[in-house]
Amino acid sequence: MPIDAARERLIQRLPKVELHLHIEGTLEPEMMFSLAAKHGIKLPYASVEAVRAAYAFHDLQSFLDLYYAGCDVLRDRRDFYALAMAYFTRAHADNVVHAELFFDPQTHTVRGVPIDTVILGLRDAMDDAHRRYGITSDLILCFLRHLPEADAFATLDAALPYLQELAGVGLDSGERGNPPAKFQRVYAKARSLGLRAVAHAGEEGPAAYITDALDLLHVERIDHGVRCDEDPALVARLVREQIPLTVCPLSNLKLCVVKDLREHNFATLLRRGVVVTINSDDPAYFGGYVGENYRATAEALDLTAAELVTCAENAARASFLPAQAKTALLSKIRAVGAHA
Ligand code: ADE
Ligand code: ZN
Repeated sequence: MPIDAARERLIQRLPKVELHLHIEGTLEPEMMFSLAAKHGIKLPYASVEAVRAAYAFHDLQSFLDLYYAGCDVLRDRRDFYALAMAYFTRAHADNVVHAELFFDPQTHTVRGVPIDTVILGLRDAMDDAHRRYGITSDLILCFLRHLPEADAFATLDAALPYLQELAGVGLDSGERGNPPAKFQRVYAKARSLGLRAVAHAGEEGPAAYITDALDLLHVERIDHGVRCDEDPALVARLVREQIPLTVCPLSNLKLCVVKDLREHNFATLLRRGVVVTINSDDPAYFGGYVGENYRATAEALDLTAAELVTCAENAARASFLPAQAKTALLSKIRAVGAHA
């Protein structure tokens, strides 16, 4: 059922936290073309419409192939600034007040773009977004799990001069055949440096990868995690230990993790007491930023106003915000919820 005006208004007014957002996944086709023109790069597409038409994915890998190719237009500090600033402008329109951004340094360093360029460009935009919109944000450095452990160590070493700019580490890219165990040692090092830890698990990979991310990588949140329901004991653990899942419903639909949003287990997990949150993943590729993910999920699964408020509260609680900021944000969310 289409959502009613009251829930529509609530979704717009809820202060949101986004915890699962790949900044490279916010590269809209229009920006892909303008940056390609700037750098004299010939794209394998005739038009913006042709790019959008190519976004018909049948699984994670079919998306990743286009996503990594698209990154080729990101070359200098201003490009990374423009990319992130465009995201913050859209996020602000969705009333996002805090965002924790994933970035994939290896996608850029392999093309000869230094990690400094990436981090400094993103930081410029994070500072500007705070000044312009009051949005706070953090950076989470992701290791590409299809690459060897040694490359992840080299990436962490290259990031050491920017340790103060990073909130944590994450793990993304092709999940199947690249278990958390492969990155146990590099996560131990990252945590010893004071970095927080999250990891993608249970998107296409089995529930066992979620358990391993918790037990071997000692992550504080699981990105996606939707396949947890294949292991009832794991679901019980997620509830007991209040381990947040950063779920991305429109991503799951576009990458055929679910056939229909009405079949998504988001509402079941929420009603079971799992700390689920709503996020956009790679919104330029999956057809919706975070507000649209709230809307589509509410509509497909008939989430109530109270459940939508819980989703926003879950995200605030699951964030890496300092305790005081969290408390202040939670009371703002509750105030909006009280008027729903
Ligand atoms: N990189 C960007 N988006 C991703 C996703 N949904 N899963 C794994 N790696 C990714
Ligand atoms: Zn992701």
